[in-house]
Amino acid sequence: MTMQSAAPRAKRILMVGAPGAGKGTQADAIAKQFGITHIASGDLLRRHIAEGTTIGRTVEDIVNKGELVPDSIIMDMLRKPVLAAADTGGYVLDGFPRTVEQAEAAYRTAGSLGVGVQIAVHLEVPEDELIRRLLARARGADDTEDVVRHRIKVYEEKTRPLLDYYAQRELLIQVNGARPVAEVTWSIVVQLQRAFKRSNTHASGARQATTQDRAVA
Ligand code: AP5
Repeated sequence: MTMQSAAPRAKRILMVGAPGAGKGTQADAIAKQFGITHIASGDLLRRHIAEGTTIGRTVEDIVNKGELVPDSIIMDMLRKPVLAAADTGGYVLDGFPRTVEQAEAAYRTAGSLGVGVQIAVHLEVPEDELIRRLLARARGADDTEDVVRHRIKVYEEKTRPLLDYYAQRELLIQVNGARPVAEVTWSIVVQLQRAFKRSNTHASGARQATTQDRAVA
């Protein structure tokens, strides 16, 4: 089936990494560099909690314990901003997908987005550095040592398997995230520019959506 979209060359970048790996920090920089929208599932959830919405009241305890919020809530919450951003050049998603199930669910809805460059960026950072960063930040109830350790465990169990998923289906960029922020940004931007260039070279003028392009939102 041919898919059409308002922005057929929309860039869709997914940040994957453990808590504290720098997904938010780097997603901000990437969004500015490429003129696309930064969408952070954790920020949206924290906003709901701060505003006391129905979603916020439902997820507050889950987020504070470092557990994953149910997929249905996440998918509903992200649908609108993702579709809007896809129409205006693309987005960098930070914190989603977090499980293979979320990636597969996104695959099913991504058809409406049409053709677009799809790249996953993995930031690898050693555990002791993750813990150091998050305890220094102390953002809220989920940045205490016990919860941070639990979030890292949840990442290892539920999210790390995504790397195999993307390595098989998408372009996966591997980055050493345990370096100064600007160095990490530079490394990501250079690799993304190469990947976009390759993708443009390979794309014909009226390029059809491939299974890989449409694998995730
Ligand atoms: P979320 O907000 O996504 O938290 P996280 O994945 O645990 O990530 P963090 O925001 O803590 O870290 P980050 O990798 O973004 O690093 P950052 O740039 O901030 O999710 C929170 C919760 O929401 C989850 O636990 C879950 O409950 C729920 N949730 C969210 N998405 C969900 C989903 N899809 N499904 C189900 N549940 C979901 O940097 C961290 C710190 O390190 C900062 O202080 C920063 O300044 C510093 N830093 C960054 N880079 C560097 C560097 N290179 N060198 C030194 N310091 C650095």
